[in-house]
Amino acid sequence: MDVVEAIRAYRPCLSYHPRPIAPEKLKSVLAAARLAPSQRNLQPWRFVVVQDGERKRLLAQASPRGRLIAEAPAVIVAFSVEEDIPVTIGGYISAYPLDVAVAVNDLQLAATAEGLGTNWIIDFNEEKLRTVLRVPEGIHPIGVIPIGYPVESNGTSGPKEENGRKSPDEVVAYDEYAW
Ligand SMILES: Cc1cc2nc3c(=O)[nH]c(=O)nc-3n(C[C@H](O)[C@H](O)[C@H](O)COP(=O)(O)O)c2cc1C
Repeated sequence: MDVVEAIRAYRPCLSYHPRPIAPEKLKSVLAAARLAPSQRNLQPWRFVVVQDGERKRLLAQASPRGRLIAEAPAVIVAFSVEEDIPVTIGGYISAYPLDVAVAVNDLQLAATAEGLGTNWIIDFNEEKLRTVLRVPEGIHPIGVIPIGYPVESNGTSGPKEENGRKSPDEVVAYDEYAW
């Protein structure tokens, strides 16, 4: 599967088989995230892979999307390390959450290519997440990503439909900001 095929194939997964993910597949998607580009190559990301049943159960209680977290055999929580990007580094916007978002997207595309389903949950009680995973100050959760083999019959696999995506004219202009 090439990258455009993976972009087209990706659908947020809404149902997971309980069977564990083959370790080499999990390693492969984490390796893709690790290779993402970042401002000045500072790589302000950390990924916590949660497979322990009790921690997963507690994490599930911290989100209205808890069913996905409870169901998936693993959950990857992506964090941004604020101090990895000094405020003096320059740029019109702080890069630390952007860099991690890029890595999460790459991780999700790699998972798609490996036949794995993922989603990206930010609807979370941050304090509970911090407590369950023992997250220190200055470390920011960017995405909670359930991952596992998708249940095929839930309509989340197969070719992507546009699903309300804006038309090219609504989001692309040439030479100036023309809206
Ligand atoms: C940054 C980000 C945060 C998201 N947060 C949530 C979330 O908290 N809960 C949820 O159910 N889906 C979440 N999603 C998934 C989106 O709702 C989903 O990608 C969008 O509805 C498009 O779905 P489609 O590709 O099936 O059309 C998130 C996606 C992104 C990129």
